[in-house]
Amino acid sequence: MANAFSGKREMWSNRWLFVLAAAGSAVGLGNIWKFPYIAGENGGAAFVLIYLSCIALVGVPIMMSEILLGRSGRASPITAMQKLAEASKASKYWAFIGWLGVLAGFLILSYYAVIAGWALNYIWLSASGGFANISASGAEDIFSGFLSSPWQLLFWHSLFMVFTVLIVGRGIGKGLETAVRWFMPLLFILLIILLIYGFQSGGFQQAVNFMFDFKIEVVTTETWLIAMGQAFFTLSLGMGAMMAYGSYVPDSANIGSTVIIIALLDSFVAVAAGLAIFPIVFANGLEPGQGPGLMFVTVPLAFGQMSFGSLFGTLFFLLVSFAAITSAISLTEPAISYLVEKYNARRSRVAVSLGLFCWVLGIGTVLSFNHWVDLTLFGRTFFDLVDYVSQNIMLPLGGMLIALFAAWRIPDALIIEQLGVKEGYGLYSWKILAGFLAPLCVALVFINTLFPDFFEVINRFQQG
Ligand code: PHE
Repeated sequence: MANAFSGKREMWSNRWLFVLAAAGSAVGLGNIWKFPYIAGENGGAAFVLIYLSCIALVGVPIMMSEILLGRSGRASPITAMQKLAEASKASKYWAFIGWLGVLAGFLILSYYAVIAGWALNYIWLSASGGFANISASGAEDIFSGFLSSPWQLLFWHSLFMVFTVLIVGRGIGKGLETAVRWFMPLLFILLIILLIYGFQSGGFQQAVNFMFDFKIEVVTTETWLIAMGQAFFTLSLGMGAMMAYGSYVPDSANIGSTVIIIALLDSFVAVAAGLAIFPIVFANGLEPGQGPGLMFVTVPLAFGQMSFGSLFGTLFFLLVSFAAITSAISLTEPAISYLVEKYNARRSRVAVSLGLFCWVLGIGTVLSFNHWVDLTLFGRTFFDLVDYVSQNIMLPLGGMLIALFAAWRIPDALIIEQLGVKEGYGLYSWKILAGFLAPLCVALVFINTLFPDFFEVINRFQQG
């Protein structure tokens, strides 16, 4: 790959390298750690199907919008939005989207590094044989013991942040490509090993029912918001990461089909992770709604009972950590590319300052699992709050504005050229999808959450 990140604006050398990089950003803790536990907390199937429809209806058009804007702006998200707004004679305040994204990136990375630190620690625990023949309660004890020690959490959080800063600071061209080209298929194979294990564990059918047996009664207004937030999070949308990566996409690549491949890949990994983790939950009488610890209890349990389990377990957490690093890199890209471009600053310096900032903020998340566990605001700990606001509010808001801008503000000629659609039918479909349907879904979900009474009234009205 041309070194796309060295500061000069070079290109991914072909569309597949972009697919790899974008998939590297999309596939991460969101798929393997977050998706199963959020699905578990929100009643399984009711959540999974809404989530998948959010990916298709909202995620795909918004990812297309981000790449379209990134490729036309050929700059960091903030500058690209400034340039495009100016060229389209739109208000300069559209650049706000870029700033919102930078802020969301900070917030997300601050806790992302803490959780990725857990995975790093679990590489070590697996390798040293700590999970051999472990029982369900043994796995739970190890995890809760770990969480109760802020110093341990801080150590692994710091280590992950150092790795991220080192890679981002050096320019990530070569490393990123190798990482995704090798590790993603490997991660896949290990998920399949876990799946096979789950299949014969006795809990598989229950897991499939849990994930796909849709019951509308358990869907609440909150389920929609969480499913949509998760769709944004898992596809890395709404904060400019895809826009930044899109700015390096060659003109010849077809945006629509590329995005569909990325979305399919990402959903596949999430569903596979769910189907690997839930059988273990049911076979061992564990609780599907236990929260963030889900993967860190079930996976050690499964590998602990397998032959060569320590080896597979080590490899699994290693790959999860790699998946997390390739996502963390993309979380920093909007801010880093802006600062490098604007102040001609050295990439390494910018990376260190940004890393330091996120590291400090991450201490709040570290403490949320021990000393500050009872310190809550709106019923949420520091970690929950940062996660909730960034994922469920900032990303959907950013994404909605991005889609509106890409459908209504830029000239039609640019849309036609970028998406390779035809005037007339093609252009109309785009406007309906990105300019209307996707933002409408986001808006409805927001209204629903902010003013639950609104839909309550309509419900009652319908029921007579
Ligand atoms: N998509 C990443 C994951 O699933 C997280 C992420 C969110 C990365 C937003 C970049 C931007 O882990």
